[in-house]
Amino acid sequence: MDRRSWIRSIVTLLGVTGSAIGLHTFLSPNRPTSSRTYRVGRLDQVFSQGASTTVHLDGKPVLLVRRTEDVIAFDLTCTHAGCPLIFNAKGGRITCACHGGAFDINGKPVAGPPTVPLTRYTCDFDNGDLIVHIAGAMS
Ligand code: FES
Repeated sequence: MDRRSWIRSIVTLLGVTGSAIGLHTFLSPNRPTSSRTYRVGRLDQVFSQGASTTVHLDGKPVLLVRRTEDVIAFDLTCTHAGCPLIFNAKGGRITCACHGGAFDINGKPVAGPPTVPLTRYTCDFDNGDLIVHIAGAMS
């Protein structure tokens, strides 16, 4: 292989590699860069109005539901097209007014167009305070 052919091969290889990296970046969804931990407050104060409440953490509406043994937390954003969701405690459903979507208390889609479950966040306790971990929070 002469010098000119060798240089042409290297340039072609670099071009193909750069295009592949650019294509991968373009096609890949935004990935979370970090997560955050929120100390929401004393359990009795957080749920002073009942067994469920909505708080805003990292700019996201988050549904907190107190159960016998634990607390569950969901992002109250519809997984179909991003509309805000409403929790109906009486019916035990999380509903979306945009296209009639509904989720059960476990975040599983049960009606309408959504097929992806709600994003659920991990909760734990520290000295009586409720702690919520928002995975994928952008820093
Ligand atoms: S955005 Fe919620 S059902 Fe379409």
